Amino acid sequence: MASLRLNFSMLWLLVVLTVHVTEAVRKTKLIGDEAAYESKDNMVSLRSHKSSTAAGPEPGDQAEAFTVRTLDGEFTYQPGALRGPLIIHAFTNKSGFLECLWSSESSLTSLVQDLPDSTHVLFLSLDDSAVSDALWMREQLQRVAMHSKKEVLSRLHFSPMPVFTLGNWIPLVLYYWGCSSRLAQAVFTSEGWHMPVVIKRLDARYDWLGTRWGQRSYQLMDAGDGCEPSASLAGAVAWVSEGNCSFFTKVQNMAKSNASGVLVYALPGNPIQDMNCVGDECNTALSIPASMVHTEPSVTQGLQSGQLLYVSFQYSPSPSAFFCIDHQGALAEMGGFLYPSFSFVSWQAQWFDFYADLQSKIQNPAKVVSVFDKVNMQGEKGAVATVDLPLGLSDFNVLELDASLSCPGKRDMSCAHWDHTVQLFICCDQVGPYCNAELGRWITAFRRGIGRWLTDVSPLLPLLDGKRCTLTMKTVPWAMPWITSLNLRFSIGNGTADGAELLHPFRVMQLYSGGTFDKNYNKRYQPITFSVPASAKKVELYAVITAHGSDDNNCGEFCVTSHHFQFNKVFNNTLVFDSAGTPLGCTKWVKKGAVPNEYGTWLYGRAGWCDGLQVDPWRIDITKQLNMSASESNTVVYFGLFDGHDPNPSKDPGYIIMSSFLIFYK
Ligand SMILES: *[C@@H]1O[C@H](CO)[C@@H](O)[C@H](O)[C@H]1NC(C)=O
Ligand SMILES: *[C@@H]1O[C@H](CO)[C@@H](O)[C@H](O)[C@H]1NC(C)=O
Ligand SMILES: *[C@@H]1O[C@H](CO)[C@@H](O)[C@H](O)[C@H]1NC(C)=O
Ligand SMILES: *[C@@H]1O[C@H](CO)[C@@H](O)[C@H](O)[C@H]1NC(C)=O
Ligand SMILES: *[C@@H]1O[C@H](CO)[C@@H](O)[C@H](O)[C@H]1NC(C)=O
Ligand SMILES: *[C@@H]1O[C@H](CO)[C@@H](O)[C@H](O)[C@H]1NC(C)=O
Repeated sequence: MASLRLNFSMLWLLVVLTVHVTEAVRKTKLIGDEAAYESKDNMVSLRSHKSSTAAGPEPGDQAEAFTVRTLDGEFTYQPGALRGPLIIHAFTNKSGFLECLWSSESSLTSLVQDLPDSTHVLFLSLDDSAVSDALWMREQLQRVAMHSKKEVLSRLHFSPMPVFTLGNWIPLVLYYWGCSSRLAQAVFTSEGWHMPVVIKRLDARYDWLGTRWGQRSYQLMDAGDGCEPSASLAGAVAWVSEGNCSFFTKVQNMAKSNASGVLVYALPGNPIQDMNCVGDECNTALSIPASMVHTEPSVTQGLQSGQLLYVSFQYSPSPSAFFCIDHQGALAEMGGFLYPSFSFVSWQAQWFDFYADLQSKIQNPAKVVSVFDKVNMQGEKGAVATVDLPLGLSDFNVLELDASLSCPGKRDMSCAHWDHTVQLFICCDQVGPYCNAELGRWITAFRRGIGRWLTDVSPLLPLLDGKRCTLTMKTVPWAMPWITSLNLRFSIGNGTADGAELLHPFRVMQLYSGGTFDKNYNKRYQPITFSVPASAKKVELYAVITAHGSDDNNCGEFCVTSHHFQFNKVFNNTLVFDSAGTPLGCTKWVKKGAVPNEYGTWLYGRAGWCDGLQVDPWRIDITKQLNMSASESNTVVYFGLFDGHDPNPSKDPGYIIMSSFLIFYK
């Protein structure tokens, strides 16, 4: 009872915490300016991008050896010498984003605490101030590491040499890969000035204020600390000091005062911060843009003396701030940072560890059947292959899907923009009750082409009962192309940890599939009566369930749903998607293969899935819940609930994708 009550209060907390996330998701699931629509134009431009001749190293190319001076002596990279990955970061204080990344305690802490033990980081500066930058960067991390995790410092290397003096290939990668990197700036002008004043800015957190600055020029008006509404700001950008009240209060007051946007300036000596809402504030949607900047004497003086000042907003291209060398010595991209935090570095490094582990698992002995080898998956047809299964498959009791999804080009920017469900269907010998059953499911990443996953689908081995099997992998027909590879890996497992004998799945029975998650959802499911085959020693429930869509409760993608299989009217087996809608629910899956640093809201928890990840089957041994004698019968029924009740959305119901089976072992 106690634990039940605890669960309810935790759920309640979760709902409170998630309102903000789910509200914002509908507006900004996709991040990045070019990320717009999956049009034909897009695909054409991607193809031409692909065929252009190489002008420098690309992701996947092997990194060559180099040596750079560091504050402690020198750092040498020798292919094969490091056991783990190397992250290379080029700092510039011309970026408000990087200034904040390096000033925020939580950002620095996430590097110190969460960087895997395998990983080294080399810190560089793009500017003439490289010596003081390197000393400052080291000081920032030393301060945080001293009282928590000193050990990490031995894997952090700081170079006092500006990037343009390195004389090796590193600058080429930083500049050549920089095509999507840019500095966000505010530009001030006034009639009396000869030159505009251009300063760095950091826009408010992506999922708090979705609204972006327009292309035009705005009048700038002083509004004090912004803690009270102002009278007459109609259409202007409010110039507001930090402090005295929250960022939310300032932006809300300025919106009430009819400002077009807000510039919050840091008090002298303070860094630019990542402006965000806190707690309950996040339940109120605000619809004007806001950015943080440093204060600027000419702007302050101009406003004080009653000069007319104008501000506009621009981006300037800049070199890449990050790239990586993975465990195998290959160059790799870092992906996108949704907000200024070293968490994104730690996540990418965690993924490299996952990938190295996956590569070693793939070396384990197995009978490998290649299905797709870099095949284009697109349109109604998807990717289709017919394979001849080798003889003797009945000796194996383990079947793993080794699947990967990459992009038409080598860079992430050539990847499909949206997260879509990918399903693999199988049909052996063109007949049989199992034809076109679902063998595997994945969700595509937002514009990252690094995903590779090993999924254990051993219970579905009976679906491969035949000589020739046709496998079809598809996503929605309107998605941009993915390049898919798939191997079936057959092997012999070791049995359970307690030394139980090895059992083979010999028959599967299809149960229920999903559907529209509306008030009639559960009315569609009738009990199924079945008997256990005579030779069966064990019965398992196997289900792959994901929830999608967005009704008025954010169901199914971002709401907590529960899925129940009840046997013989008394035994409930329940799967709850309790991390759906949490702000960071999918980040904890990076270590298990979720693609990090995607160009979209990959980090929110979702209902049974994450972007850039396989959907793991839910498996429960139900032998003890059944009457195992072949002459007796059993019943099973499924139902799915939202918040403990039948779903009852008032608009746009979501939907459940489900395949579920009983697996009989002997
Ligand atoms: C970065 O620039 C800001 C002003 O733009 C300044 O206050 C800060 O001290 C600089 N930081 C470093 C490390 O140079
Ligand atoms: C904060 O409030 C105090 C008291 O009203 C005021 O004197 C001060 O100027 C305010 N701070 C800023 C940065 O506006
Ligand atoms: C803001 O604009 C609305 C609509 O034009 C107007 O009714 C309101 O009085 C304005 N508020 C302020 C503070 O200027
Ligand atoms: C089985 O056991 C061997 C030896 O302990 C081990 O090397 C292997 O990885 C195990 N295989 C599986 C699939 O667990
Ligand atoms: C199983 O779930 C049903 C429906 O929620 C409920 O009526 C029943 O009491 C549950 N049984 C057990 C044993 O928990
Ligand atoms: C089948 O098993 C259920 C649950 O253990 C039990 O309640 C029921 O009586 C059994 N039915 C038969 C026919 O044995």
